[in-house]
Amino acid sequence: MTNDEISHPLFAALYDRMGAMERLLKPHREYLAADLEGRVLELGAGTGNTFPYVAPAADDLEYHAIEPDPHMRTRAQTQANETGLAVDLRGARAESLPYPDDAFDVVLSGMVFCTVADPAAATDEVARVLKPGGEFRFLEHVHADGWRATGQAVLNPLWERVAAGCQLDRQTVERFVAHDAFRVDEVERLELGVFPATPFVRGRLYRRRGGGFSRE
Ligand SMILES: C[S@@+](CC[C@H](N)C(=O)[O-])C[C@H]1O[C@@H](n2cnc3c(N)ncnc32)[C@H](O)[C@@H]1O
Repeated sequence: MTNDEISHPLFAALYDRMGAMERLLKPHREYLAADLEGRVLELGAGTGNTFPYVAPAADDLEYHAIEPDPHMRTRAQTQANETGLAVDLRGARAESLPYPDDAFDVVLSGMVFCTVADPAAATDEVARVLKPGGEFRFLEHVHADGWRATGQAVLNPLWERVAAGCQLDRQTVERFVAHDAFRVDEVERLELGVFPATPFVRGRLYRRRGGGFSRE
C-alpha cells in the first residue's frame, strides 16, 4: 500500500448494500450531477454511485475522479464500465491532488469530508485545482446541535472504527464558508440521514476570480 492509499475491504464490500440510504440520496446525487460541463473532478468517488447520474451528460464532460481505497476503486471502475462513463480514475487523496493549479471547472464531493484525514488541506487543494470562477459542489454530513452533538461526541470513537474513519462531528461547512478562496452561492441544511450521521448539508461555492490560490 502506498502513502496515497487507504484500505477498508469490508466497508467497501458492504457500502453498496445500504439500498434504503441510496434511495434517499437520489435527489441529492441528481443535485451533484446537474448541468455539469467541462472538466470535472469527483473527490472520493467510492464505489461510483454518482456515475450513473453523471453519465447522461458524458458528451459534454471530461470526467476525472480520485479514490484512495483500492477496494472502492475497483468497484468504481466496474460502475464506470457498466454505465458507459469514461472516467480518468486515480488512486489519490483529496489532501494531495495529482493535478496542476486551475485544472477543473467543477469539483464534486459527496460524503467525503467526513472521512478525509486532513480536511483543511483538502479544502486548500479544491481551491488550488479549481479554475477562477469554477464551482465546488458538495453534499456532506456534519456536526449536529444540542443533545445530538453530545451523542455524536460519545459515539464517534466507535463510529470511526466501523465506518472506515468517518467522523460524525466535522465543522465542514464552517470551514468551506470561511475559506478565502470561495464565494458562497448556496448552502442548504437537510434533515437527511439517521442519527448519529445527520444532518446533511449541500451547496455550491465558487472559486473567487483574481489572483491564484496556493497553499504557500
Ligand atoms: C462515505 S464514502 C462516500 C463515497 C462516495 N463519494 C459516495 O458518494 O458514495 C467516503 C469515501 O471517501 C474516501 N476517502 C477516504 N479518505 C479520503 C481522502 N483522504 N481523500 C479522498 N477520499 C477519501 C473513502 O475511501 C470512501 O470511498
